Amino acid sequence: MKNIKQTIIFLATAFALVLIVTLGASMLPSSKKTSPDYTINNTTNTNTTSANGSNVSTKPTQTTGTPKPSTPTPKPVNTTPSYTLTQVGAHSNSSSCWTIVRSTVYDLTPWIDQHPGGAGAILSMCGIDATADFEDQHGGQRRPENELQGFEIGTYKK
Ligand code: HEM
Repeated sequence: MKNIKQTIIFLATAFALVLIVTLGASMLPSSKKTSPDYTINNTTNTNTTSANGSNVSTKPTQTTGTPKPSTPTPKPVNTTPSYTLTQVGAHSNSSSCWTIVRSTVYDLTPWIDQHPGGAGAILSMCGIDATADFEDQHGGQRRPENELQGFEIGTYKK
């Protein structure tokens, strides 16, 4: 009888120990990495792969420290050509009609046959400074002013 009692106590103690060891092991931090890695990028969003393989979009984070010097923007090169009165004068007919209005040079060749006021009016402007003629007829009128802009080829070099 005493032996049976001792065996029961022994088994109960052994069971309790196994239980403690099992529970304790499951509560210990696992060596397997479960949290995803994120890279920090200052300027753009970075897509990083998370632990389960799906893509996770991370927001860019402002890091502290000296800001990077910005790359100098190249100065725009002035590409607008300029023409003298002599150069404009060489385009004085229907095959090539250049004119000057308010110090801007226009090539009106394609407009000669489209002008609602007739080809003659445009031909009278070819090869000369026609500022006064244009302003007398159309100065401040929206549609003629807009059309004129579309024919700009350069500036008048005095
Ligand atoms: C000395 C130069 C010019 C003269 C004498 C002249 C004359 C005229 C005349 C008389 C009209 C009226 C036509 C009508 O209603 O039946 C007219 C209309 C018009 N012209 Fe000129 N024009 C000249 C230059 C130009 C230029 C350089 C442009 C533009 C590139 C231009 C654009 C127009 C336009 C868009 C209309 C129609 C306006 C509208 O109905 O709203 N003209 N022009």
